Amino acid sequence: MRRAKISVIGAGNVGATCAHWAAAKELGDVVLVDIPDKEGVAKGKALDLACCGPIEHFDARITGTSDYKDIADSDVVIVTAGLPRKPGMSRDDLIQTNVKIVKSVSEQIAKHAPESVVIVVANPLDAMVYTAWKTTGFPTNRIIGQAGCLDVARFCTFIAMEIGCSVEDVTALLLGGHGDDMVPLPRFASVHGIPVQQLLSDETIQACVDRAKVGGGEIVKLMGTSAYYAPASGSVQMAEAIIKDKKRILPCAGYCDAEYGVGGYFVGVPCVLGANGMEQVIEIDLDADEKVLMDESVSHVKDLVNVVRETFPELV
Ligand code: NAI
Ligand code: 2OP
Repeated sequence: MRRAKISVIGAGNVGATCAHWAAAKELGDVVLVDIPDKEGVAKGKALDLACCGPIEHFDARITGTSDYKDIADSDVVIVTAGLPRKPGMSRDDLIQTNVKIVKSVSEQIAKHAPESVVIVVANPLDAMVYTAWKTTGFPTNRIIGQAGCLDVARFCTFIAMEIGCSVEDVTALLLGGHGDDMVPLPRFASVHGIPVQQLLSDETIQACVDRAKVGGGEIVKLMGTSAYYAPASGSVQMAEAIIKDKKRILPCAGYCDAEYGVGGYFVGVPCVLGANGMEQVIEIDLDADEKVLMDESVSHVKDLVNVVRETFPELV
């Protein structure tokens, strides 16, 4: 049986950690790609990870490269290439530099892995998914953004910390863009089926919502660069659902036209992930307050995409 192949573009913090989780889960062979100046870093990290195999008991061919020919026949390509934010920066401050990077990477993906499903991670996420879509020309089911898996994991973690229960029993839902106006939805959060409202006060739930919204910034302040363990974990959760055709429902930046009245943008919504990538957007009924929050977040996504369109007319 042919092994699956996962290529990770960008061998920095998020990229190398994606390779780590993918290898540890034995999802398939992993190719770690960086720019020619950092080919040694990509090769070195790949070799270092490969040497974990005998200890961790995984079989995976892990290679580092700067040659995009090596991503041929990838099932999934995860795009982490791009600058991360520094303290005081928002994700949106990265847009000009990262559009150029994601555009150049996407050209290579279209050329060398034209049948792959692309998971975009670089920030500002919602604009980078759009950039990858426009540049590759891939159908919308094969371009997906990772943000919701991370953001909802943070929300669940904070709920579990407050209750003092296992994170394994907490599930929650989160919509919208990957900005501080993302929309965690407490009404859909539960612990082993028990609505979270029966376990925590409204004030504590709101504190969990607020902390999830700025969870990325909290980590940037602490360590001077952006998070990577959980972002990579969320990305590989998506890759696993696709490679194993699991039909998982995960919060991803998926293409929405009529869905949620979005009108043709990638925004965070519950998506069915399987062998064909983003196979379906699940629409849920929102109450009036939730709808206002979702509309605000979508409006921010549209503003970001408009910045891309205005600055890079070839991406219109
Ligand atoms: P990093 O600086 O550690 O790694 C980025 C890597 O991309 C570097 O090794 C760099 O050489 C490489 N790179 C740059 N241009 C490239 C190109 N044209 N081709 C191949 N590789 C290239 O940054 P980190 O922490 O890994 O973050 C990567 C991106 O992911 C950032 O934009 C960050 O904001 C974003 N991010 C997104 C999250 C999400 O949930 N969507 C969460 C965390 C980070
Ligand atoms: C995060 O949320 C910076 O998007 C990154 O950690």
